[in-house]
Amino acid sequence: MLDLAVPILNAPMGGVAGGELAAAVTRAGGLGMIGMGSSATVFTLHKELPHVRGVRFGIGLIGWRVREDPALLDAALDARPALLSVSFGDDYAWVVAAHDAGVLTATQVADVEQAGQAADAGVDVLVARGAEGGGHGRPRMSLHTLLRQIIAHVDRPVLAAGGIASAHALNDVLAAGAAGAWIGTAFAVCRESLLDDAARARLIAAQAADTILTRAFDRAFGYAWPTDTPERVLRNSFTDRYDTREDEIDATARDALRTATESDDYRIAPINAGEGVGDVTGVDDAEAVIRRLTTT
Ligand SMILES: Cc1cc2nc3c(=O)[nH]c(=O)nc-3n(C[C@H](O)[C@H](O)[C@H](O)COP(=O)(O)O)c2cc1C
Repeated sequence: MLDLAVPILNAPMGGVAGGELAAAVTRAGGLGMIGMGSSATVFTLHKELPHVRGVRFGIGLIGWRVREDPALLDAALDARPALLSVSFGDDYAWVVAAHDAGVLTATQVADVEQAGQAADAGVDVLVARGAEGGGHGRPRMSLHTLLRQIIAHVDRPVLAAGGIASAHALNDVLAAGAAGAWIGTAFAVCRESLLDDAARARLIAAQAADTILTRAFDRAFGYAWPTDTPERVLRNSFTDRYDTREDEIDATARDALRTATESDDYRIAPINAGEGVGDVTGVDDAEAVIRRLTTT
């Protein structure tokens, strides 16, 4: 359905997967996605679009952000992406709008029940997103278990997501019947991503055990994430202090987090990362990452 030379999409990572990364992934044979995350606006989307002029691309939005700012959905459809994903919401009205605009749809699902709801709503491509994944997601079960359950349950293409950062991991999900992989962390450090060098260095140094699921940052920033949807990040002094003690986050902690985020101080500010982060060992361009993932 997606008609890809290489069965890889970069995950739409807010603040990380901009137009430059998306264009590079598509040029290397996959499908590049522009990510619009918790602080997405029509302005930040428009800023990324010139990079994908003339190449196929997708856009990924977040359900609660679309609810807060419906103009994001209109702007995304106006950009005529090959694929639109809206994840982490239970309202599927966007699927009709996308289909009316002739745009294929995808969403991330965390269990069979959610996969059934998305399929009933007409979503074209389901992304089975395992608890290993970087960034936000409902951590219901490992990708290994989830992928097999969803493939058995729904009659449409299923992409695999969560912790895929090596050729072995990619082979495993393709052998299990996935139509492709939706990969975040392994592309986050790419030269074409929007990450700064300090964050790249931390990702390259990290192992799976350095990641943690937390709601601390979302509570501190005041984001409207559903309570069952934490994010997997690299542990740092903020998570050491406030994870599971979110009620203790006060104005001073919020100010410190805001300052740290503005100054790329990742001792306090968050970096999203999945359990495949240990396989991320250097900065490469997206084409080289795709070559590494597809060479056994
Ligand atoms: C840095 C980063 C930012 C992310 N931002 C978003 C986002 O804005 N929208 C979204 O749907 N998913 C987002 N995700 C989750 C991805 O869509 C996907 O579930 C995840 O990257 C898969 O796991 P992996 O990182 O282990 O490959 C993000 C993930 C990462 C690592």
